[in-house]
Amino acid sequence: MVYSLKTRILENKKILPDFYEMVLSAPAIAAEAVPGQFLMVKTSPTLVPFLRRPISLSRINAEEGTITLVYQVVGSGTKLMTVMTPGSEIEVVGPLGKGFTWSVKDKVVAIVGGGCGIAPLVALTEELLKAGKEVYALLGAQSRDKLLSDKYFIELGAKVMIATDDGSFGRKGFVTQLLEEVINTTRLDQVYCCGPLPMTKAVVKLTKEALVPCQVSLEERMGCGVGACLGCVCKVRSEEGSLTYKKVCHDGPVFTSSEVIF
Ligand code: FES
Repeated sequence: MVYSLKTRILENKKILPDFYEMVLSAPAIAAEAVPGQFLMVKTSPTLVPFLRRPISLSRINAEEGTITLVYQVVGSGTKLMTVMTPGSEIEVVGPLGKGFTWSVKDKVVAIVGGGCGIAPLVALTEELLKAGKEVYALLGAQSRDKLLSDKYFIELGAKVMIATDDGSFGRKGFVTQLLEEVINTTRLDQVYCCGPLPMTKAVVKLTKEALVPCQVSLEERMGCGVGACLGCVCKVRSEEGSLTYKKVCHDGPVFTSSEVIF
């Protein structure tokens, strides 16, 4: 079920120079959401900016009835969010989209996240660990001050490996190099990926070559977020191999690597 609600802000704090973490009291959404889904957030009480912003769920706590959003300040809408105070309300629609899935057969999995794409992988890692999987968390960023949520992955008990482009933290290089190493030394049953397009393309290529199933969350510009505006349509391959179009907001944002076409 999709809810359109006013939710109470419990916390809203800066966690990195351009990133904020907002905790909302939203028991109905927390009870139904799965990792990989997102909310459309109304960032202003006025009509400007008009469009709601899509923000993925970084943590889902059904027991406490809370959800955590991690957002990057990229424009006027997200800038307005930064000054919202605990105790005030914010309108959201969700949970939206199709999230990540996992199978009881999978034993060892890897999540590969880059930039703000790391945010939804926290909730996923939490669920994968609860389901008894061994989880490699491969995290990449341009530099130390842009690396999201690494402490959460460590606290959760994932095997964390980090790469930064400038070498300011972890390995110098790309997160895909870490994935290559893990693929070469470990039998992975599934890979989950969320991040910038070049990273996603490289992850899909590596996993296809290694014959490891992979799910990717596609980050696309969204307008309505509910399947009405066609602003997020992407070309995919159907199970029969024919080409077709799907809406990232409604049919995704999570797709299997065999579906996506770059
Ligand atoms: Fe409008 Fe997907 S954002 S159809």
